[in-house]
Amino acid sequence: MLKKENILLVDDDIQILELLHRHLNSMHYHTYSAVSVKEALYILKDTEIDLLITDINMPEINGIQLIKYTAEHFPDMPKLVVTGFPSIDDAMDVFRSGVTEYLTKPFTKNELADAVKKSLENRAKKASVRKSVPKGSTGYGEMIGASEAFSEIVEIIERVKDNHATILIQGESGTGKELVARSIHYSGRFARAPFIPVNCGAIPENLLEAELFGYTKGAFTGANETRKGFFQAADNGTIFLDEIGNASLAVQGKLLRVLQEKEVTKVGSQKPEKLNVRVIAATNSNLEELIQKKLFREDLYYRLTVVSIVVPPLRERVTDIHLLVDRFLQKYGVEYRDRLVRISPEALKILERYPWPGNIRELENVVQRAVIMCDGQVEVKHLPEQVKYKIDFSEETLRPLKEVEKEHITKVLASTGNNKTKAAEILGIDRKTLREKLK
Ligand SMILES: Nc1ncnc2c1ncn2[C@@H]1O[C@H](COP(=O)(O)OP(=O)(O)OP(=O)(O)O)[C@@H](O)[C@H]1O
Ligand SMILES: [Mg+2]
Repeated sequence: MLKKENILLVDDDIQILELLHRHLNSMHYHTYSAVSVKEALYILKDTEIDLLITDINMPEINGIQLIKYTAEHFPDMPKLVVTGFPSIDDAMDVFRSGVTEYLTKPFTKNELADAVKKSLENRAKKASVRKSVPKGSTGYGEMIGASEAFSEIVEIIERVKDNHATILIQGESGTGKELVARSIHYSGRFARAPFIPVNCGAIPENLLEAELFGYTKGAFTGANETRKGFFQAADNGTIFLDEIGNASLAVQGKLLRVLQEKEVTKVGSQKPEKLNVRVIAATNSNLEELIQKKLFREDLYYRLTVVSIVVPPLRERVTDIHLLVDRFLQKYGVEYRDRLVRISPEALKILERYPWPGNIRELENVVQRAVIMCDGQVEVKHLPEQVKYKIDFSEETLRPLKEVEKEHITKVLASTGNNKTKAAEILGIDRKTLREKLK
């Protein structure tokens, strides 16, 4: 399903933000979330927004000021206010600044849908149609796929590649999170600036802060010179914070500040430096669970999920398997055999039925190994045991009890030469029951 308009959501109440996001996504709108006016302005700077949905009462800068600002700078952008009970003064202010619709909390999904629809209809219709990924395409740069889930991811990439909105990518191990992050960076207009991947799980906790933000000479023992961190290195480009769930609470606090203030401070320094970095974070752990356990800061989570991308596991996009197998056969066929390697239909069928707990990375390893073992064509025997075994197991069709019972009774009767008394004895039922069953 092709996503429709871009909607910017602004509310300091993260529950409302989450609710709006969920409802609007299910209606196929694309959303950007901001927990403050300041962050909303940051997104507006480089993103084409079709509708603004904002709260009024927020700390620091309130929604009225945001509405006035957008009325001046984006006069064609419709605005929908979602708020608790507003004061008369606020309401007057809001309407004077050209708000098209008003929705009071609490609201139902239908009320929201209506208000959004009306707001968008009021907008001066723009001729430009959003760029969409051609249907039936089977790839995007290095990424291969044709499933619905794949096209949805490509569509989000298209929307976010040219702006600096923070993105959180979630998905199981090996699903392609890093590839998605790279595709966002390298297909967008900051592609010439650096893409800096940082594995937060691989850097010792006590070093992570210095590695990320840099340090000044003498900041700690061993700090013999002033050094830049990954953030400074990524200036104007993208920093990819992989395994963000592994960052300590201390580092999380620092990251929160960076996202709020768009500036970093070296370890040992007092002077913040302004930066223009797009942050893409990824995780295969369940951050909501970590938040429950107080291991991950909820406020950081909401600053990371301005845009959220969920990469589904391979078993939920089986239609991509064939394409991926072809790509890997080509890649490793040329690398190891210097020619094209094929795969038998039976072997492909097995690959398409296996649940792939290690996702695309596991599939790639299996194909790579098979190419090395085979002789021009991958056969079932070139696949690892666990992949085949899983299939034997799941290929046994599960049948209804009645069917199995009928088959068993027939078998017993045959073995007793149709002697019903003997058969009933073997089956452990009386003759009357057997007669009934035979009917
Ligand atoms: N759509 C795709 N098309 C082709 N190759 C892909 C695709 N998605 C992932 N891959 C390949 O699968 C492998 C795993 O991808 P990647 O490293 O991006 O996964 P990940 O989600 O970051 O995994 P982990 O959680 O283990 O770090 C890589 O070799 C990548 O090139
Ligand atoms: Mg990864």
